[in-house]
Amino acid sequence: MTEAPKKLHIKTYGCQMNVYDSERMAEAMSAQGYELTDDVAAADMVLLNTCHIREKAAEKVYSDLGRLRPFKEAKPDLKIGVAGCVAQAEGDEILRRSDLVDLVVGSQSYHKLPDLVARAGNGARPVETEFPAEDKFDHLPARPRQARPTAFLTVQEGCDKFCAFCVVPYTRGAEVSRPAEKILREARGLVEKGVKEITLLGQNVNAYHGAGEGGDWSLARLVRALAKVDGLERIRYTTSHPNDMEDDLIAAHGEEPKLMPYLHLPVQSGSDRILKAMNRKHTAEEYIRLIERIRAARPDMMMSGDFIVGFPGESDQDFADTMTLIREINYGMAYSFKYSPRPGTPAANAKGAVPAEIADARLQELQALLTEQQRAAQSAMVGREVGVLFEKPGRMEGQWVGKSDYLQAVHVKGEGLAPGVLARVRVTASAPNSLAGELIG
Ligand code: 5AD
Ligand code: SF4
Repeated sequence: MTEAPKKLHIKTYGCQMNVYDSERMAEAMSAQGYELTDDVAAADMVLLNTCHIREKAAEKVYSDLGRLRPFKEAKPDLKIGVAGCVAQAEGDEILRRSDLVDLVVGSQSYHKLPDLVARAGNGARPVETEFPAEDKFDHLPARPRQARPTAFLTVQEGCDKFCAFCVVPYTRGAEVSRPAEKILREARGLVEKGVKEITLLGQNVNAYHGAGEGGDWSLARLVRALAKVDGLERIRYTTSHPNDMEDDLIAAHGEEPKLMPYLHLPVQSGSDRILKAMNRKHTAEEYIRLIERIRAARPDMMMSGDFIVGFPGESDQDFADTMTLIREINYGMAYSFKYSPRPGTPAANAKGAVPAEIADARLQELQALLTEQQRAAQSAMVGREVGVLFEKPGRMEGQWVGKSDYLQAVHVKGEGLAPGVLARVRVTASAPNSLAGELIG
């Protein structure tokens, strides 16, 4: 008699790299006989793949752990693991703060997960947060279980920028780029499984410099090689630092049709004083000129970004400068956050804390402007023709949902639509977060 498969529940917090990592962990555990489940009550193991970027994200892990207590009491051999950036940053402190946790695995050690699971239990609570010399990716190739038209592919990890507010250089370590050939192989494997669109991931993805045929490959060179993979229709990459936006990458945006016209390029602030205090190493003007060059190469480029309000020392004038920059760039969409001091980062000890009410008011004002820009970008699509890659059925009979070239959700009713179909669509209506359209031809 064969044993019933064990059930694994994974909860993923934070960025797309965690989504990618969760998939790799699920694959590693499936080799150990674990099947994924959405149902915590049915799980033999629960894994929290955590995020440390802001205080709220990190604290959520502990409240979610508290919520797992009744499940552990009902099923004492339920194993609970904490993975990801909180695991990397806090290590065995997590075991002290929560008696429910059986194992802790940092983001660089996922290939060791099956071994840690086997060791955990009967009082053993293994912790693995080293930055090992071996390449975890060699142990965790992307082998999607089901066909999906879009996939993430990690090409670079870590960050050497040390923005004063950010934990990433500490949790994800120094910048490391994967060899080009391994990425191309992984991409071909994804395409064979039906993937049409690949988003290249890295904390600082445009700083990619990997070993490739003939020497060092830039991200642009990698993109151009990927564009030659038959069956791969769309390429995106995220997330980037303005100072690594090299000429060949800008040129690729003008020359490579498979490279999609949507770019997430965080600036964080529009004030030179604050940019300097943040250690961003560029001015607002340099960022604006850079985007002019990008738009000269690809005029329809949809810009996206990240903003932090309430960084220590931020005055009304600094905030006004950020609003001016946003008006100048005109974002298609953007993310914005209230500054959250992170232990171990230089800004955590900075003077000039901005009172919470002021930071809240600034965040509201900034988000109102970004929402207005997003709404305008959405309604400007009405009447235009756009490529849409369909992903799943919509809520209405006969309706399908996909993503436009500009990463907008588009709803279409039509014959012959299915996941993975790439079609030309005329946009007929817009809402703040989605578009509606009809098939052309
Ligand atoms: N406080 C607030 N926002 C932060 N980010 C990173 N660190 C912090 C912090 N300490 C934001 C930045 C970054 C995005 C991923 O998260 O805007 O680009
Ligand atoms: Fe963090 Fe991005 Fe700055 Fe690196 S470049 S320190 S990941 S905000």
